[in-house]
Amino acid sequence: MTAQEKSLLYSLLNNADCLYSGRVSSDFAPADFKDDADIAAPVSVAVQDAAVPDAAAEIKKIALDIAQCTGCVLCKARTNTVPGIGKIPPVVLVIGEGPGADEDRTGEPFVGKAGQLLDKMLAAIQLSREDNCFIANIVKCRPPANRTPLPEEAQACAKFLQAQIDVLKPKMILAVGNTALHNLLGTTTGIKKLHGKFFNYQGIPLLATFHPSALLRDESLKRPAWEDLKIFRSKLLEIVPDYQTSYLNGGSV
Ligand code: URA
Repeated sequence: MTAQEKSLLYSLLNNADCLYSGRVSSDFAPADFKDDADIAAPVSVAVQDAAVPDAAAEIKKIALDIAQCTGCVLCKARTNTVPGIGKIPPVVLVIGEGPGADEDRTGEPFVGKAGQLLDKMLAAIQLSREDNCFIANIVKCRPPANRTPLPEEAQACAKFLQAQIDVLKPKMILAVGNTALHNLLGTTTGIKKLHGKFFNYQGIPLLATFHPSALLRDESLKRPAWEDLKIFRSKLLEIVPDYQTSYLNGGSV
């Protein structure tokens, strides 16, 4: 079995246990799996772990594939595809739901009111799309009237997000809102129950918090969202102790 397969199994079992028992996996430590010796030579393990050479070019290629995609009905009404934007490679990958009207018009994720709030939330823990984050969505085309993407739309788009994750290799993932949580973890349990807890997503620590649109609708969610962000920052400081350096230097480091 390959290290990637073992890691996937481990994360599925860990997440299932957390969902079933209510256990909080904030003390989650990613397991260090190795490929079985007779399946892969050590060299391929090293290559698998290494940063993707010219990740920016790979991300551009994925964006071009997204622009050509007709894999679901969302392609019919789109003005622009919204592949994602940010620092390459990022420390943190932020994953939202899907483009709204402003994003459809500009081709950039999170540029409307919710996006402005997301930027403030990230800035509060020294993260930004300019310096250390990449921001993407579950679906890359706007659902009509901003409805929740249907399962088949999320499914059709999943290969693009997976390709982005494979190239970007983020150290941590921040999932915002129910759609990101449900599609990434394969659960239907609501964000109110699962926010602020760590899950293992393909070996990457993932925490879900409330979507900024939800915070705009319901002020009372701002406090728990802030608590989630503090938990996220603590873990990030453990994994990447100097992650704030690029932010504090305006991306110059
Ligand atoms: N909401 C999202 O989930 N994503 C965007 O890009 C914009 C709003």
